[in-house]
Amino acid sequence: MQDRIKELLGEIEAFAISNKEELEQFRLRYIAKKGVVTALFDELKTVPAEEKRSVGQLLNQLKDAAMDKLKSKTAELEAAAMASAGKPLDLTLPPIPNELGTIHPLTQVWERIVEIFGRIGFNVEDGPEIESDWNNFTALNFPDNHPAREMQDTFFIDGKEILLRTHTSNVQIRLMHKQKPPIRSIMPGRVYRNEAISARAHCIFHQVEGLYVDKNVSFADLKQTLYHFAKELFGKDTQVRFRPSYFPFTEPSAEIDISCGLNRPGTCALCGGSKNICKGTGWVEIGGSGMVHPNVLENCGIDPEEFTGFAFGMGIERITMLKYQIRDLRLFTENDVQFLRQFETL
Ligand code: DAH
Repeated sequence: MQDRIKELLGEIEAFAISNKEELEQFRLRYIAKKGVVTALFDELKTVPAEEKRSVGQLLNQLKDAAMDKLKSKTAELEAAAMASAGKPLDLTLPPIPNELGTIHPLTQVWERIVEIFGRIGFNVEDGPEIESDWNNFTALNFPDNHPAREMQDTFFIDGKEILLRTHTSNVQIRLMHKQKPPIRSIMPGRVYRNEAISARAHCIFHQVEGLYVDKNVSFADLKQTLYHFAKELFGKDTQVRFRPSYFPFTEPSAEIDISCGLNRPGTCALCGGSKNICKGTGWVEIGGSGMVHPNVLENCGIDPEEFTGFAFGMGIERITMLKYQIRDLRLFTENDVQFLRQFETL
């Protein structure tokens, strides 16, 4: 019997355990109630009295060796499982969705504006956001110290000469300097004004400028172009209203209003009855427009006797708010995913 026990000791030591199944086989073979060690303890009764003591000791050694191996291998396998997978791989689980970003509503509207004007022959021009006083003001017929400069609270960068553009009208000047008529372009971009942030105003926003200079361009062309634009963007029942206004760079000048009810004239859809956007008038201003002032054409080397032009500048935030009935302009810059997801296009 002693020889058998010694043999088993060697066997236990050599038993390879590298996974849970092998561990269980080991346990069943040596430790379980019906295992080899228990059977040997039973057999102990039959051992002659003088040998009992030494065989008993050997048997206990065998039992301890089996128990120790079981414990250490269990711990080893558990540690390995934790380290490798972390979690078990369950192939029946639904896949984690591949979340795509959405195109920002302002970008969507910007692109739509480019498309609408593109179809009627306007190309896209770009200009810098850091601009000189000349391109942002002086060439646009804002005389020095003219109160009109104060209409736009400017962020200056370097003294009073370099500034963040307060409107996209600077690109008109750059364009007329580099290109002779006919000119038919829109100029979308970001602009800056030193204004307190509220539901209706921000210090950073976007405009789209338009410029059409050629022979015999009239105010009727301006109106027709903007009627077409409004109906394309907001729907065919949209009303457009021109209101006399003043800008140094246009004469005559007009503010462009859109009906607040959009496709439902007479209603106050954008305000949702609160009247806080159209102020109960049923109209929302989206920009300014007019016939390019002769001084501006001259400043850019274009003969105002030969050419005339119209121009307009509209707020992209305003247009987007109207289109999607958004009541607070701050939502555009907060990056709230719940807000942005509503504009998913895919
Ligand atoms: N630049 C003006 C503004 O930011 C908007 C504007 C009005 C642009 C009339 C124009 C225009 O081109 O003709 O308030």
